[in-house]
Amino acid sequence: MNDYKRHLITAALPYANGPVHIGHLAGVYVPADIYTRYLRQNGKDVLYICGSDEHGVPITLKAKQEKVTPQDIVDKFHTMNKKAFEDFGIAFDIYHRTSAPIHYETASDFFKKLNDKGDFIEKTSEQYYDEENQQFLADRYITGTCPHCSNEKAYGDQCEACGTSLSATDLINPKSSLSGNKPILKETKHWYLPLDQYENDLKKWILEDHKEWRANVYGQCKSWLDQGLQPRAVSRDLNWGVPVPVEGADGKVLYVWFDAPIGYISATKEHTADWEKYWKSDDSRLIHFIGKDNIVFHCIIFPSMLKAHGDYILPDNVPANEFLNLENDKISTSRNWAVWLHEYLEDFEGKQDVLRYVLTANAPEAKDNDFTWKDFQIRNNNELVAVLGNFINRTLVLTQKYFDGVCPEATDLSEYDQDILGQIEEIRARVEKSLDAFRIREALFEAMGLARLGNKYLADTEPWKLIKQDENRVKQILNVCIQISANLTLLLNPFLPFSMNKLRGFLNLEEYPWDAIGNISLIPAHHKLNKPELLFDKIEDKQVEEQVQKLLSTKKANESKEKELPPAKQIVNYEDFTKLDIRTATILEAEKVPKTKKLIKLKVDTGLDIRTVVSGIAEYFDPEQLPGKQVTLLANLAPRKIRGIESQGMILLAEDPSGKLIFISPEDKLINGAEIK
Ligand code: MF3
Ligand code: ZN
Repeated sequence: MNDYKRHLITAALPYANGPVHIGHLAGVYVPADIYTRYLRQNGKDVLYICGSDEHGVPITLKAKQEKVTPQDIVDKFHTMNKKAFEDFGIAFDIYHRTSAPIHYETASDFFKKLNDKGDFIEKTSEQYYDEENQQFLADRYITGTCPHCSNEKAYGDQCEACGTSLSATDLINPKSSLSGNKPILKETKHWYLPLDQYENDLKKWILEDHKEWRANVYGQCKSWLDQGLQPRAVSRDLNWGVPVPVEGADGKVLYVWFDAPIGYISATKEHTADWEKYWKSDDSRLIHFIGKDNIVFHCIIFPSMLKAHGDYILPDNVPANEFLNLENDKISTSRNWAVWLHEYLEDFEGKQDVLRYVLTANAPEAKDNDFTWKDFQIRNNNELVAVLGNFINRTLVLTQKYFDGVCPEATDLSEYDQDILGQIEEIRARVEKSLDAFRIREALFEAMGLARLGNKYLADTEPWKLIKQDENRVKQILNVCIQISANLTLLLNPFLPFSMNKLRGFLNLEEYPWDAIGNISLIPAHHKLNKPELLFDKIEDKQVEEQVQKLLSTKKANESKEKELPPAKQIVNYEDFTKLDIRTATILEAEKVPKTKKLIKLKVDTGLDIRTVVSGIAEYFDPEQLPGKQVTLLANLAPRKIRGIESQGMILLAEDPSGKLIFISPEDKLINGAEIK
């Protein structure tokens, strides 16, 4: 990092069509924030850029569903997500948005420059069109039968049953997801970026010159490059986005993946008049933090655009994370399977750092990882509370108790003490090495090593046993502990900014730069400390159970949603309906039919007679709960023998999509035999 004059850190612009969740934080925003804070503490000239990605088809569809405009949707989520990031201490220099005029202008100019240079190919092709909605269909919004595995719900870009990637025209019986109709093929013209022309440059730039990129990133790029690149359309037929700035291109906008990364540039422009020096000089270093689904766009397509343009630098690294799962299941906005940041803060007020810690300690850097509430609790209780919090608390409380909160003077430190203090610099070097290589989770583990060291030092020296006979030794010990605490505020600050800010307050310590780490007299003797509070507190089983319950009820709700309602039946006339003799009746006796799972034999009072009915409800009701219950009975159903028992009629029940049965009972008690019509 030292060879560069300035650093431009970008974090993928999240789509403004839903709230942000823990997967976003873990994948992109927390690691980028840690890295940025580290650079800032080193006094580097650094910009941390982000904002809302406000274009694309899904936003237009959500608007349609909710009967509002796309602008309404993005306004809502832009505001909400901006706040959520602020609340978690994600310290962007700017959180911009791609619906801003300066972005339209920037993206438009970018396209024009490439178009004027003749960098695009213009091509007319046939694409699916929904006549009812008068709209061309993105591949994702066409479903049909997969030609490979006959799955009837394959998408126009991919079949999720067999994993094959498809083009919409491969589908058998294509259907528009907008209208449900069969789409027609219609000619349309688009602009294509000839990625094949950049292939050789990209191969050298990535495969030879950037072997240090993470294995997952390098591997994905290699596989794309090995397969050979094709021209890619950079425009779409849509009325939401940056209009294609060419005459006769009405109804066409820039493809969202063309305009969104340019959003990094327009955000920088909005932030500073000096934006060009970050984007256009070789002594600037560009780093893109992203999730793994964004790799091709940031490593292949955007760099090709930048290269085609000619004035811009290319990213020096693209530390992409894999995905975070939640309790063993893929995080999904549409299935509501997520921990939303705003909800977390309602349930765990003031505990931003706990989440930052857990998401970093368990970051999906090399493979997908799982977030569980149990692990959240364990890491909080065993690491933040029992190690870091405990060390700080004992240090500060003992200093209060023995020395009135004044840092004691330590003379003639023992070799052991000096060795302990000497380890601070070694730890710092290890943290730096990890951070410089974007191994953020390893860096956190190394940094916590200083808290573990302090904790062990206190446990070994046991100053509380020495205070009576050897006050001088206690002074040495607590001085060492106070210096470790002061160093911790610097070392852990990128990871736990809220708590380290608090701790600085307890220590009455001013801010120091990163390279002060290792200084063993950050707090001079006789310096007055402030009254401490607890840095972290335990998370109880009950709190964790509540979160797990919340997820379980989401799961249940999803399961019943997934079962479809039965299709509508054919029309019947009134006469047919009146043939049914439906009456109120009361269950008198109930017993399970032996050797069956579902059947209960009922004796019912129909008002006309007492009769036997066999009903398949044993999975949902105990025979004991039934006598006395008033129900409805189809009384003139032809009698039939079920398991040797003659059943005279049928009790009516409603079945919900999950298969659960409930009786249809009159709201108020009635006589038996009342007619239902
Ligand atoms: N909105 C995209 C996503 O959430 C990321 C866009 S990153 C940018 O996957 F570079 F295009 F801005
Ligand atoms: Zn298939």
